[in-house]
Amino acid sequence: MLKVLILLTILGSIAAHLKDHASQIYIGCALSPSHFSDSQYQSIAAAEFNSLTPENEMKWDAVEASQGSVNYAQADQLVQFGKQNGMKIRGHTLVWHSQVPGWVSGLSGDTLHQTMISHITDEVTHFKGSIYAWDVVNEMFNEDGTYRQSLWYNNFQTNFVGDAFKAAAAADPGAKLYINDYNIEGINAKSTGLYNLVKELKGQGVPIHGVGFQAHLSTGQVPSDLAANLQRFTALGLDVAITELDIKQNGQSQEAQAQAYASVVNACTSTSGCVGVTIWGFNDQYSWINDNPCPWDSNYQAKPAVAAIEGALK
Ligand code: G3I
Repeated sequence: MLKVLILLTILGSIAAHLKDHASQIYIGCALSPSHFSDSQYQSIAAAEFNSLTPENEMKWDAVEASQGSVNYAQADQLVQFGKQNGMKIRGHTLVWHSQVPGWVSGLSGDTLHQTMISHITDEVTHFKGSIYAWDVVNEMFNEDGTYRQSLWYNNFQTNFVGDAFKAAAAADPGAKLYINDYNIEGINAKSTGLYNLVKELKGQGVPIHGVGFQAHLSTGQVPSDLAANLQRFTALGLDVAITELDIKQNGQSQEAQAQAYASVVNACTSTSGCVGVTIWGFNDQYSWINDNPCPWDSNYQAKPAVAAIEGALK
């Protein structure tokens, strides 16, 4: 009997997947249906993760490359995959300086404003009820904490932010609405600029619910004040999430990389109000970046990072 129990325990631990340990927070990954012909890609994604973010398929240039010809087919495919596999779905992203279709880039003033509101309203309405959280505004800060000189800022200063959140809230009152950025993981000029903005937005009654920390990081360079930084945002009454985690190997060992992954997940699990961690593509082969940043290698072999993430989730 004892032998059977030991065997079952061993088999259970072999068969365990990341999401089996993700009860306090969700564990997600960015996916693209362009890799769905690869069956291992689908099976690992479904087995390991309980949340997904479309890597590119909900961006404006992907859904409306030319004015009026809206195409949600690829994004719908991901939503269907997520639903079939019991995953939360994060919507990414509505207002960004990048991947704006050419026909939008040429607009200005009231026409641009109306076009932004229509885009948000149409897309959020299309996915209404399916999306756990939207990245409504993405990457609006410079490294020094000033505002990026984007199409949006240059036309509307910061007024576009509140307007975008209000349009998204009107279209799907059930979705959590986030502002999202990179290089804001530590307490620095950029994260402080963002902190001041979200505090002001909350004070104005803008329906903003969360801050996404992308966390495109390097081994050996995970900010030591990550948890403290997350906590100053949750103290404002906001959710926080790690939304695009990947960690370049940076000339160091896979074990060091694994520790870096664990430290990020630990920062989230130790912060009340940190709702989940999303990895930006789970295998090196399909990552947007070189330098082996993912927990699985290009042959779908789990690196030490997988066990480290599992340990941190426990
Ligand atoms: O869809 C076209 C395809 O038709 C064409 O044949 C191919 C040729 O290069 O390009 C395809 O588009 C590419 C797209 O990914 C889909 O593969 C774009 O060129 C390429 O620029 C695009 O890169 C994406 C990038 O955002 C765009 O800015 C990356 O996959 C994606 O990982 C990356 O994700 C961003 C987040 O959205 C925001 N935070 C930073 C993060 C990393 O850059």
